[in-house]
Amino acid sequence: MATVEYKNWITHVQTPRVERMLKEAALGDAISFAGALPAEEMFPTREIEAAFREVISSQAGEALQYFWTEGYEPLREQIAAHMKARGVPAEKDEILVTSGAQQALDLLAKLLIKPGTHIALETPTYLPAIQAFELQHPKLEAVSRSQQELDCGMLRRILKGTGVQFVYVVATGHNPSGASMSLEQRKELLEMAAEFNVPILEDGAYAELQYGEQLPNLAALAPEPARVIYVGSFSKVLSPGLRIGWIVAPVAIIRRLTLIKQATDLQSSTLSQLVLSRYLQENSFDAHLGRCVKFYGERREAMLKALQSHMPNQLRWTIPLAGFSLWVELPENISAEGMLPDAIDRGVAFEPGMPFFATEKHQNFFRLSFSAQRPEFIQQGIVRLGNMLAEKLSPVTETRS
Ligand SMILES: Cc1ncc(COP(=O)(O)O)c(C=O)c1O
Repeated sequence: MATVEYKNWITHVQTPRVERMLKEAALGDAISFAGALPAEEMFPTREIEAAFREVISSQAGEALQYFWTEGYEPLREQIAAHMKARGVPAEKDEILVTSGAQQALDLLAKLLIKPGTHIALETPTYLPAIQAFELQHPKLEAVSRSQQELDCGMLRRILKGTGVQFVYVVATGHNPSGASMSLEQRKELLEMAAEFNVPILEDGAYAELQYGEQLPNLAALAPEPARVIYVGSFSKVLSPGLRIGWIVAPVAIIRRLTLIKQATDLQSSTLSQLVLSRYLQENSFDAHLGRCVKFYGERREAMLKALQSHMPNQLRWTIPLAGFSLWVELPENISAEGMLPDAIDRGVAFEPGMPFFATEKHQNFFRLSFSAQRPEFIQQGIVRLGNMLAEKLSPVTETRS
């Protein structure tokens, strides 16, 4: 019997070989810096348990029922207040509750991209955003994002040359690099967007988890609020398992996105929305955020210190200002993916960087996430990685210390 052949049309996922290796590494003893996961210790478990109990004992009929696609009204109000507190002038009707920020990106891609539509995005960038966009067959216009900065000159040339539908950016806590754009660059980007009359799609999944200077969202800085469509998430600070994110956009856009969401999944889980709403009513999100920043800040410090002491001189890495990860650059001729099997044999794993590039691929990068490992394991894992790299890069390489 003939086998059915499916065309492999999503090109940016990790290869099945890498997926398999990383899954095995996660199940085995390896110290994994691959997945950018929140630490289980930081889930507000007791508070969420209490919210669940209260919702089920007093609102079970509502919580277990279907609900309107736009989202649970009190939660939309709470999200609007959350955004206002961060300087974004949002009203309840400008909020759509989504099943995570990932669904927000998918819905926006469905609304804004037709086959052949040009969209500008950073490279490297958050891999599942590339995946969500590519499902709608756009023409990707990649703009380099190195260290903290976006190549604004390159973006200007793209905006001049092509009719770009939107610019997708992770201004704060860029994934994979943890970089955050400077205030000046945020202003420059917004000015350019106004000059070329193009909307910005700002992904704020990590925008709250900033380790130093608190940089404002583009959505808070924009002189015309409609210029920026903002995507937010409760995954990084509260829990990704609840699967709740949101979009802030003008009411007309929210209405159209609501129809697309209806066709996609009818609504986000009523139970999750009511529990989250109850949690936000009973607890201070900002107090929990403060604990998270301290907790992940210590892990970030542990990783930066270990890298400084144990990595060969030829390596460079970003200093993350927000988020869970940093980005390491190897000499150009070295493949990060090629080194992964050896690293796993030595009990350490990382995320090869090639799929994070939107167009032109580079093999010599990898992402390290510090969020889910205790500081002593971070130290141990980086020593293992440093030893391996020192051997691979040159028999005479010295580490920095
Ligand atoms: C930049 C960025 N955007 C969006 C998401 C998706 O988050 P959510 O769990 O809210 O779907 C992530 C998750 O890692 C992310 O890093």
